[in-house]
Amino acid sequence: MNPFSYGTVVKEPHFFNRKEEKERIVSTLSGGNNLVLYAPRRYGKTSLVMHVMDSLTDLGFICIYLDFMIVYSRESFAEEYSKAILVHQSNLNKAIELFAKLVRGIRLKLSFDQYGNHEFSFDFSTVKISDKSLESVINLPDKLADKEKKFIIVMDEFQDIDKLNGENFEKLLRSKIQHHHNVNYLFLGSRTHILNDMFTNKNRAFYNSAAAMHLEALPKNETVNFLMNRFSLSNIQLNEKTASYLIEHAGNIPYYIQFLASEVWQYCINLKEVVNVEIIDVCASKILDLKSDYYFELFDRQTAYQKKLLKALANDNQNVFSTEYAGKFRLSAASTTQKALNGLISSGIIEKYENKYLFDDPFFKKYLLRLQA
Ligand SMILES: Nc1ncnc2c1ncn2[C@@H]1O[C@H](COP(=O)(O)OP(=O)(O)OP(=O)(O)O)[C@@H](O)[C@H]1O
Ligand SMILES: [Mg+2]
Repeated sequence: MNPFSYGTVVKEPHFFNRKEEKERIVSTLSGGNNLVLYAPRRYGKTSLVMHVMDSLTDLGFICIYLDFMIVYSRESFAEEYSKAILVHQSNLNKAIELFAKLVRGIRLKLSFDQYGNHEFSFDFSTVKISDKSLESVINLPDKLADKEKKFIIVMDEFQDIDKLNGENFEKLLRSKIQHHHNVNYLFLGSRTHILNDMFTNKNRAFYNSAAAMHLEALPKNETVNFLMNRFSLSNIQLNEKTASYLIEHAGNIPYYIQFLASEVWQYCINLKEVVNVEIIDVCASKILDLKSDYYFELFDRQTAYQKKLLKALANDNQNVFSTEYAGKFRLSAASTTQKALNGLISSGIIEKYENKYLFDDPFFKKYLLRLQA
């Protein structure tokens, strides 16, 4: 079996390191504070947080996980959030009774499918959920928690809260959860600039409401060891230098490292070869071929100026507003570049990190470089 795994939340043996980060998150939350965790896409946020939740559960906390990606309206928030909370109650029938007492304007029913799995269905008394009902859903964990039974709520892809009537929902949520004494919150997301604005902009409801933590890339030496160990399980040789080459190729992003490693393993297991840089190049190229239709469409969707800028960024991602940069890549005024860049950032193609503009997907960058070749 392929010793690499990507695209899903990973556990050991596909997950390594992150011990210090895990301890810091656990101690912040168990100490009664809220935390916002920033990291670019595919750095391993959700996997890390699942480990954090296991530790907090062992410490006696009730951990609830909600992914905002699946929430598309205030009503769907109420449903998904209530479900996530109620399944943790030991007696479901009692939980339904409690729900009826605590939440007005929503009727909750419990049924069972043919396999005996429970299903919740929600009936809203009005087409649009009222602020009052929404508030009582938001307050649900605090009503169920007490000193002996504290809750930790994880809100993943939290920047997607923007979808829910923007700031109104944000304000409502913040105004309620600040009074929750037996519940702590962990917010995380991949669109770091949006999340950052939510927690550091004085005009936003969540301003200064949580301690902040940045998740960095995995340490290079440990990633090298991880790769060498995983390949050695199938008696495939990989030396340190070649492992570093693979990591560079994958933009040092955990997801792409395991994606590329998985292709390389597949290649080598058939041919019984020692891994070398040529094999890594061949496999990277194969990934580009596999994804080229998607990249073509993604590129095609951009404006003419954004296309020009993307090609420039693939070559050089520093000092993009300088006259030298504009001259080198035949760009217009800095204001035009800024506008185009904002568009690329808000569609999640580019992310600003320190003074550099990085591609979210290192293989899209390779695709653009290939277009020029
Ligand atoms: N600690 C780790 N050790 C090894 N691989 C990891 C680790 N964390 C993440 N990965 C790799 O990255 C992939 C993505 O992980 P995960 O879904 O947790 O990241 P994420 O930051 O939540 O991603 P997204 O931005 O898509 O939500 C995993 O499937 C795995 O291949
Ligand atoms: Mg995630």
